[in-house]
Amino acid sequence: MVIEMKISKLTENIGAEVIDVNLKKEIDRGAKERLNQALTDNIVLVIRDQEFKPAEYLAAVSVFGEPMEQHFTQYQLKETPLVNYVSNRDAYNGGTKPVVRGAGWHTDHTNHERPPKCTSLYAVVLPDEGGDTGVANMRAGYAALPDDMKRRINKLQTLNVIEGSASPRPTSKLPKEGKGKHDRGILQPLVRTHLECGENALYFHPIKTEHIVGMSPEESQMLLQELLELAVKDEFIYRHKWRLGDMLIWDNRCALHQAYQDYDLSQERVLHRVILHGERPFGPSMPRVA
Ligand code: SIN
Repeated sequence: MVIEMKISKLTENIGAEVIDVNLKKEIDRGAKERLNQALTDNIVLVIRDQEFKPAEYLAAVSVFGEPMEQHFTQYQLKETPLVNYVSNRDAYNGGTKPVVRGAGWHTDHTNHERPPKCTSLYAVVLPDEGGDTGVANMRAGYAALPDDMKRRINKLQTLNVIEGSASPRPTSKLPKEGKGKHDRGILQPLVRTHLECGENALYFHPIKTEHIVGMSPEESQMLLQELLELAVKDEFIYRHKWRLGDMLIWDNRCALHQAYQDYDLSQERVLHRVILHGERPFGPSMPRVA
């Protein structure tokens, strides 16, 4: 008997669960199209019961696009450098305290001209409880804004660097060779139009925003915080409670994500992560280029 892959919604506004598929095996074109369409429609997918070695994980994520290198090259896996690890045991600068990387809502690598279209995580070691990952639907977040705010931000662009001077929570500790590499400042539309579905979404990384064009860094951070408060509503969030075997993938073009600091940090948490090449962002403030 052939078991057919099943995809079902996890919440009304965001997220779908995929079962009965083994991404260690080659899947046919129809299944690939269904998965990609489900990702566009639902913004985040949870693909259950996978059992990957790093190279298998990389191949599985490639169903959704082409993997690219990540900023934090010190966290690359040796044999498969396009797979990074996210571990709470990696204290920066040789420090000894556990860390939660990615706490606070953000999207990835906005200081790249072509930021990653998707980010994927795969559970390797989990705490007994918690260690959740949140993904927020920023199409819904944008749609829920008052019309005058929409009109105001449709015109705006953010200037993105590795770490903005007025960012509320400076965190980045790049390896020496990474410093300045991505730092000339890249403009991004604050409202981004999705390449496949054409819908607008809020698009920004508070820490990587040096400023919004025409505003001071401080004014820019105030506006971004206001947008977070207005747009990241509980009903737009999918909060993933990890199980071993879960592969999570979301669409960075219309989502913000964060790691929750909701667990006993004396327990280890390790995930593997892959990001996928994306297109040049465009939106009401920035025309589409090839
Ligand atoms: C990230 O920002 O990619 C990390 C998310 C997590 O660790 O849950």
